Amino acid sequence: MKDHLRIGILGLGVVGSGTIQVLAAQRAKIKEQTGMNVSIVKALIRPAEDKKQFADEHGIELTSELADIVEDATLDVVIELIGKVHPAKEFIAQALKNGKHVVTANKDLIAQHGVELVEIAKENNVSLFYEASVAGGIPILRTLTTNYLADEITNIRGIVNGTTNYMLTKMLENGTSYEEALAQAQALGFAESDPTNDVDGIDAAYKMVILTQFAYGMDVALSDLEIQGIRGLSDKDVLQAQKFGYEIKLIGESVKADETISVSVGPALVPKTHPLASIKNEFNGVFINSTGIDQSMFYGPGAGSLPTATSVISDVAAIAKNISLGIDAPQFNEYRRPLQLTAPEANYAKYYFAVTTSADFTADALTALLANEKVQINELAQEIGETNRFMVITESINRLQLAAVEAAIAKQGTLERRMRVMEA
Ligand code: HSE
Repeated sequence: MKDHLRIGILGLGVVGSGTIQVLAAQRAKIKEQTGMNVSIVKALIRPAEDKKQFADEHGIELTSELADIVEDATLDVVIELIGKVHPAKEFIAQALKNGKHVVTANKDLIAQHGVELVEIAKENNVSLFYEASVAGGIPILRTLTTNYLADEITNIRGIVNGTTNYMLTKMLENGTSYEEALAQAQALGFAESDPTNDVDGIDAAYKMVILTQFAYGMDVALSDLEIQGIRGLSDKDVLQAQKFGYEIKLIGESVKADETISVSVGPALVPKTHPLASIKNEFNGVFINSTGIDQSMFYGPGAGSLPTATSVISDVAAIAKNISLGIDAPQFNEYRRPLQLTAPEANYAKYYFAVTTSADFTADALTALLANEKVQINELAQEIGETNRFMVITESINRLQLAAVEAAIAKQGTLERRMRVMEA
C-alpha cells in the first residue's frame, strides 16, 4: 500500500516558503493521522530567483522547467502558488492531465476557470482542492461542504480581503493616509503583487464567486456581480457613517431569496453592533445566516504566509487521507444548481448616499426628491456651505427604485458615493 506522498510545488514566494515550513512542522502529525509520509521534493522557481539556501535546508530540488515537475512520474501532488490566471491555468491543467492531484490558493483562477479545471480533474481521476483561495487561514470551504450539508444557507456576508480591511483599520484608527496604508499592507505581504485587485474589490469578488458556488451550488460569473472598491473613499463618509452608528467595511454579500441569488462587493455600512464590524486589520470574517444553525461567523487571518500555507497543507493532508482510505479522488464540491439571479425589482437593500449640491438646494428639497420616487429617508446629515453636502440613509429599496433615485439626484447635484447599508 502507498505510504509516501511526493509533492512538487510551483512558486516559492511568501506562501510557497510558508508551505514548506508548515509541512516541516506538521509532517509527523499528518503521518500519524493519515498513515502517509508527505514530502515536498521539488520546487519550480524563476531562473533569476535565489532560493538555494532555503531549498537545501529543506531538501528540495530546484528547477525552472515546468516539465521537471508535471512530467515527473514519481510526484503525486502539485501545489500551485504562482498566482494569477496565466500561466497557472496551463500549468495546473497539465499537472491534472498527467494524473497529479492539485492544490492551489489561486482565487483569480478558480473563480474564473474553476469549472473547466474541475472537469479536467474528474476526467483524470484526481482531486483539485483550493481551501486557501478564500479567506486565507479560515477553513471555510471545507466547512461549507461538510457541516453545512445539513443546513440551508440564506446569505453569506464577509470581509474577505485582508489588504483593504487592514487599510480601512489603519486609516480610521491611526489617521494613516490611503497610500501609506496600502504601502504597509504590501510590505506585510497581504496585498497582491499588483494591488489593484485588492483596492478595487476584484479580489473579494473572486472569493465571493467561490463562496457562492459552495453555499448555493450556483456558478456565478464575475460579470454577474456588482463590484466597487475602496479607492477614493472619503474621510467624510467614514466619519459620518460612524456618527450614524456604522463602520465602513469592504463587504462581499451573497444573498438568496426565493431560490434566486444576488452577489455584490463594495464598501458598506456595517452596524457597530454587528460581529463583522469588529473585524480589524488583515483579519477576515465570514458571517452566515442559515435555516438550521441560524447565525455563525468564521474569523481568522485572511492573508499572510503561514495562515494561507496552513490551508494549503490541510488540502494536502485531505489528499493523503483519501489515498490512505482508498477513496477515489473526490472533488472539493459536487453541489450544483442552475444559476438564477435575483431580478432587480426583488433585490432590496438600504443605501447610504453622499450628495453634493449647490448652496440653494436644501435638505427638504432632497427629501421631496426622494419622496417623489416613493423612497423615504431614515437618516440625514448635512454640511452647509458654498456647496451643500447631504449624507442620507434610505429605507430598504429595490434596484429599480435605486436607479430612479440616482437619476433624480444626478439632475440636482453630484452623487459622490453610494454604499449598501447592512441590517443589524
Ligand atoms: N491580497 C489578498 C488579501 C491575499 O489581501 O486578502 C489573500 O487572498
